[in-house]
Amino acid sequence: MITADYKPLSLTQSITQWASWPMESTYHQPVLADEVIEGLNVLPGGNYIDCTTGQGGHTEAILLKCEPSGKVLALDLDPSAINSTHSRLTSYMDNLTLFQINYTELDSVHKKSVLPHIDGILFDLGLSSFQLDSSDRGFSFQRDEPLDMRFDPTGNVTAYDIINTYPEDNLELILLSYGEETRAKTIARRIVQSRPITTARMLASLVERAYRSSRGRIHPATKTFQAIRMAVNNELENISIGLTKAISVLRPGGRLVVISYHSLEDRIVKQFFKTESRDCICQIETLICSCNHLAKLKLVNKRIITPSHTEKSINPRSRSARMRVAEVI
Ligand SMILES: C[S@@+](CC[C@H](N)C(=O)[O-])C[C@H]1O[C@@H](n2cnc3c(N)ncnc32)[C@H](O)[C@@H]1O
Repeated sequence: MITADYKPLSLTQSITQWASWPMESTYHQPVLADEVIEGLNVLPGGNYIDCTTGQGGHTEAILLKCEPSGKVLALDLDPSAINSTHSRLTSYMDNLTLFQINYTELDSVHKKSVLPHIDGILFDLGLSSFQLDSSDRGFSFQRDEPLDMRFDPTGNVTAYDIINTYPEDNLELILLSYGEETRAKTIARRIVQSRPITTARMLASLVERAYRSSRGRIHPATKTFQAIRMAVNNELENISIGLTKAISVLRPGGRLVVISYHSLEDRIVKQFFKTESRDCICQIETLICSCNHLAKLKLVNKRIITPSHTEKSINPRSRSARMRVAEVI
């Protein structure tokens, strides 16, 4: 069943429906692009799904490698990302189909596409440089923008709603569990005391004051912004759902590639890969297996893949990237 937010776009369709969203002024450089192509084992004539097309960097790299008859389904929750990939990759539209949809719906997208098999699926998690630098949606603590942070502009909850209406306990829990913020209690209390908080700059200043004089390697508001963004977009929950659906869609021998950017994401991916690559997941002390779990994945790289020094110096935002690759059994 295709859900209500299923919106395939083709070259011939008007993109004016996205006109209220700004076109990109910051190009997102694809991270670990060569490694992604190798990890997905992209071959001419293959079919691939890019679950997080962003500005289409990885999508383009896959299209170039699977020419002339390969197909790519490219998904993103953010209409401005779809818009951006659409205009950048116009010349590939015979082989590319775009969907503004949550990757948790990737099985529906696959069914609708009628592609007989899928050879590789990519997740490049998190947010893009465009969203951070130019989307005017309050993702960056360095900018004076309204607190929104939704990838999907029709999403139910904005950062403003969470910051200005959630009880102090809930805020503390969000800061702790999605940001691993050690000063969650203080920051949550100050947020509640300072309402209404309307802009990203106001929120960042409040967190800076909670940190007083202590100066760390990262800006004090980094974890708070990460936590609120994750709560707004349900990011960690989506990863598990998306990965499970990816396995169900890939053909045997098909490749799953995931790039994450911080430990919370990577922990979920690592655990998922570990569980799905084992035949038995009973407690260690269990003598006779009762779970009947069968491995669905084979790990391709035992160690995580990270960007080279050269890539990190050219694209500093790649520095925290960790890539994992597995193959469906
Ligand atoms: C790191 S960027 C991807 C960049 C892209 N690989 C490129 O080369 O330009 C992550 C993208 O994932 C999208 N995204 C995040 N969560 C999503 C979800 N649940 N479903 C679909 N897209 C999602 C974001 O909107 C963002 O555009």
